[in-house]
Amino acid sequence: MVKTAVFVSGNGSNLEALVAAKARGEMEHVTLSLVVSSKANNYALQRAKNHSIDSVVVERKRYRDDIVGFETELRSHLKRYDIQLIVLAGFLTVFSPLFVKDYENRIINIHPALIPSFCGKHFYGLRVHQAALERGVKVSGATVHMVNDIVDGGQIILQKVVDVLEDDTPESLQLRIMEQAEWDILPKATEIIARQIIAGQIIAEQTRECFDE
Ligand code: GAR
Repeated sequence: MVKTAVFVSGNGSNLEALVAAKARGEMEHVTLSLVVSSKANNYALQRAKNHSIDSVVVERKRYRDDIVGFETELRSHLKRYDIQLIVLAGFLTVFSPLFVKDYENRIINIHPALIPSFCGKHFYGLRVHQAALERGVKVSGATVHMVNDIVDGGQIILQKVVDVLEDDTPESLQLRIMEQAEWDILPKATEIIARQIIAGQIIAEQTRECFDE
């Protein structure tokens, strides 16, 4: 079993999807050991509590420009729980290259678009869907990828396409992409990487820019 930490910043619906997939027996090689939140009092923390998963709050804003201090605190929690895999599920903080290096091929992220479209450091949450609608794309979707030094630039693990409808708003598109893509591919990708960790395989590192960069 791969001890896994789920990193969150907000609502935590992807965390809920991971818990549900685990309950259905779909993540056989994954133990959801810890939830790490960069914000206090969000609903994701309540979800962790509801499912009796340990959680910690490491507030990004408390550290301001001190990314080293922020990551030192993160590391202490990850060590305490012997974490082998980190799943970023709506976690809106970018790690330093040193942290990424230390957890190379052990951090995955869900992004609510088809990378390399609508990705990079300015694209998160509703902004992604706003940009997709402004561009007039007919399909969008979600991507789970490895985390490396480039924001949303690591190797793609899974993607799923979702139709964009004519009367979509950013909110309606966000919800459809979550329901049809994110909540499906995040647990699947987590299980894929957990199996690879157990098998001792390392995914070849690739770096790619987003189209918009
Ligand atoms: C999700 O749509 C996730 O893909 C997105 O934030 C939302 C979090 O929702 N992540 C990003 O935009 C990262 N670039 P949740 O808290 O309900 O899981």
